[in-house]
Amino acid sequence: MSGLKGATLMRSECEERSSRREGIFRRVSKRILKGDLFSYLYSLYWSLRVGSISVPLPVFTHWKTRWRISPTANLIVRKQFIVGRMNTQIGQNGQEGLDRNVIQVADGGTLEIDGQVCLGPGVRILVGPNARLKIGDRSYITANSRVIVKSDIEIGSDCAISWDVQLMDTDFHHIQPGCPNTKKITIGNRVWIGSRATILKGVTIGDGAVVAAGSVVTKDVPPNTLVGGNPARVIRENIKWKP
Ligand SMILES: CC(C)(COP(=O)(O)OP(=O)(O)OC[C@H]1O[C@@H](n2cnc3c(N)ncnc32)[C@H](O)[C@@H]1OP(=O)(O)O)[C@@H](O)C(=O)NCCC(=O)NCCS
Repeated sequence: MSGLKGATLMRSECEERSSRREGIFRRVSKRILKGDLFSYLYSLYWSLRVGSISVPLPVFTHWKTRWRISPTANLIVRKQFIVGRMNTQIGQNGQEGLDRNVIQVADGGTLEIDGQVCLGPGVRILVGPNARLKIGDRSYITANSRVIVKSDIEIGSDCAISWDVQLMDTDFHHIQPGCPNTKKITIGNRVWIGSRATILKGVTIGDGAVVAAGSVVTKDVPPNTLVGGNPARVIRENIKWKP
């Protein structure tokens, strides 16, 4: 009787182990089907394209990312560039990118990733001919935001740019002929830009500043201030925010 009990116990242990193995198999195959394998191969390709291959790879890109880098453009990655949703790195905080990521750098344009930078799903980076975009270390841009560069945009280190944000250094059209419609945007270090904010041409945002959700920033923002509204006005001074 006790032998029978032992055999039953052994069988249930075996069954448990095999179901655990099946679980691992299912998880691995699900990941492959979800496209992670393609993402790693695609990442390898882009890592080789930027010319430096090390471990961890300098470019991690979701396989659905649309890369449009002109042969005369410069793509510089100093540490690591993570693009799009990958199960291991991206897509936390419930971010859902509606579209695929787009990274486009036109003739003579420069995209400089000056450290480790993460882009959430659906983020679009468009750098025009001879334009330059520099993003500093440990900065991230979350889902569906858009950075449109016709001349120059510089984003500092440790910046948190929320979802659906738009940064554009050009108006695209002229209201008064002869007036410049394109001016550099500078975003300092440790800047937090709330969801759905828009940053327009010529704006400089000082270190440690916060832009409230939905703001339209048309003028410079002093360091360590909270601005909000349309057009954005100073709401609070001498602030300190925690990532
Ligand atoms: C910036 C923020 C965090 C400030 O929050 P807070 O410190 O609690 O500020 P309060 O709610 O006390 O508001 C202070 C003042 O600013 C105003 N204000 C707050 N948010 C504003 C906004 N988005 N636009 C315009 N004014 C705003 C308030 O009306 C209030 O004005 P009052 O003093 O005249 O009454 C918050 O406004 C915000 O934007 N949250 C969303 C951040 C976000 O997008 N997160 C996504 C993940 S990164």
